[in-house]
Amino acid sequence: MTTLKSAEELQRLRESNRLVAEVMQNLLEMVEPSISTLDLDAEADRLIRERGAIPAFKGYRDYPNTICASVNEQVVHGIPSSRKLREGDLVSIDVGVRYRDFYGDMCRTVPVGKISAAAERQIQTARICLSEACNKAVVGNRLGDICMTIEAIAHRNGYEVVRDYVGHGIGRRLHEDPQIPNFGIPRPNIRLRPGLVLAIEPMLNAGNWEVERLSDEWTVITKDRKLSVHFEDVVAVTEDGPEILTRVD
Ligand code: MF3
Ligand code: CO
Repeated sequence: MTTLKSAEELQRLRESNRLVAEVMQNLLEMVEPSISTLDLDAEADRLIRERGAIPAFKGYRDYPNTICASVNEQVVHGIPSSRKLREGDLVSIDVGVRYRDFYGDMCRTVPVGKISAAAERQIQTARICLSEACNKAVVGNRLGDICMTIEAIAHRNGYEVVRDYVGHGIGRRLHEDPQIPNFGIPRPNIRLRPGLVLAIEPMLNAGNWEVERLSDEWTVITKDRKLSVHFEDVVAVTEDGPEILTRVD
């Protein structure tokens, strides 16, 4: 069941998502060759707790860490490791927090040092998918307008979208209705109303959309081992238009 947030609930969600955005900003500044994703995880844990919040992913269905860190052909849910990042890698950092009973959730994919022009273009396209999808989070549109926008921009640029993982509503729970696929027309294709708060998360593959899971039970990789990138913002539908909550300013 999809719920609409009250003004007070929306205010709490502003705080939890601003908090996760601050943490993200700090983590992104640390990304460079020779740092490990486990180093990023430790710092994320510290930054979240120092703000009085709790890591949302740790313990979620027994997930072991604070962040998901997915490198190159890893799509989502990469478990942080002590392997050092190398120049030319892409790393997606996904962070979730709970603060005063409300969740924040955000993901960015960034280059490690210098990366290929093709990888750069893939990141840029996913960014545009996300920002254009957020622009569709307008009263009177339907959920499908968000989903179709992501798919259309991805396809126009030669990428496939991951079908097995979707965006979601967010509030007092990390994952709420509605589910937000990155393609097609969702069912039910609800009309967007003020008070809806949505975590929109495009995942774009350079090759085929098919994915598989590693034996660690979490890390999702592309079947063809081509690059995948992932972005996520939380946006509120308001009378005044889309309000992106995962923002520092
Ligand atoms: N941002 C992702 C999501 O919304 C990450 C979840 S990781 C998990 O599903 F560990 F919490 F499952
Ligand atoms: Co999410």
